[in-house]
Amino acid sequence: MNHELVEKNVGWLGILIVVAIAFGGLVEIVPLMFQKAATEPAPGLQMRTPLQVAGRDVFVREGCYNCHSQMVRGLHEEVLRYGPRSTAGESVWDHPFQWGSKRTGPDLARVGGRYSDDWHRIHLLNPRDVVPESNMPGYPWLAEQAVDGEEVQAMMRALKIVGVPFPEDEIAGAPQAVAGKTKMDALIAFLQSLKVPQAPAQAATEAPAAPGGA
Ligand code: HEC
Repeated sequence: MNHELVEKNVGWLGILIVVAIAFGGLVEIVPLMFQKAATEPAPGLQMRTPLQVAGRDVFVREGCYNCHSQMVRGLHEEVLRYGPRSTAGESVWDHPFQWGSKRTGPDLARVGGRYSDDWHRIHLLNPRDVVPESNMPGYPWLAEQAVDGEEVQAMMRALKIVGVPFPEDEIAGAPQAVAGKTKMDALIAFLQSLKVPQAPAQAATEAPAAPGGA
C-alpha cells in the first residue's frame, strides 16, 4: 500500500531517493573524517620542496591528470605493475589530490626514481624520442618558462592555510630555492618525488622497492 504510493507519486519517489543517497553517503564519508589513517600523514611522508610545489602546479595546469592517475589500487596486477598500493595518508597534504580516474598513460604514484631526470626531460620534450609508440603530447614550452618564485611562495602560504605545515623559513627561502629553474625542472622534481613514503629509520635499513616489486 505505502509502496504503491511511492511508486505512483514521482515527487515522493524523488524525495526518498535523495534521502536514501544522502544517508548512504554519510555512512561512507563521515567515519573517514575521524579515521586517523585518512586524516594523518602516512609515516615518512615528505613535505614537498618549493621546486616540487611549483612542479605539481605545472602538472595540474597542463592537465596531466587527464591521462594519468596517481593512485595504485589494491589489486594484485596493479601492485605487481606499479608497486605498493596507495594509502589515504599519502595524500593528506595534496590540495587538490591527483588520484584521477583516467588512465590513457600509466599510473604515476610510484614513478619517482624509475627513470633519470634526463629521461624525463627528453620524454617531456617529445615522448616519441624514448617511447616510439607513445601518444602522449610533448611539452617543449616548459623548458623555456621560468618558475616564478613569488608565485611559489604564495602557493606555499595558501597550502599552509589548508593544513600543510611548511616551516616559515622554507616559505621565506622559496624564491631563492627556485631561482633560475624552469617549469620543466620543477615538473621533473615533482615526478621524482612520487614514491612510497618511507619512515627515516626504515629508509636507512631497507632498499627502495624495485619498480614492479610487490
Ligand atoms: C593524451 C594523454 C596524455 C597526457 C595529456 C599526458 N600523458 Fe604522460 N603518458 C601518456 C601515455 C600514453 C604514456 C605511455 C607511453 C610513454 O611512456 O610515453 C605516458 C607516459 C608518461 C610517463 C612515463 C610513465 C612510466 O611509468 O613509464 C610519465 C612520467 C608521464 N607520462 C608524465 C606526464 C606528464 C608530467 C604529463 C603532463 C605534462 C603527461 N604525462 C601528460 C599519455 C599522456
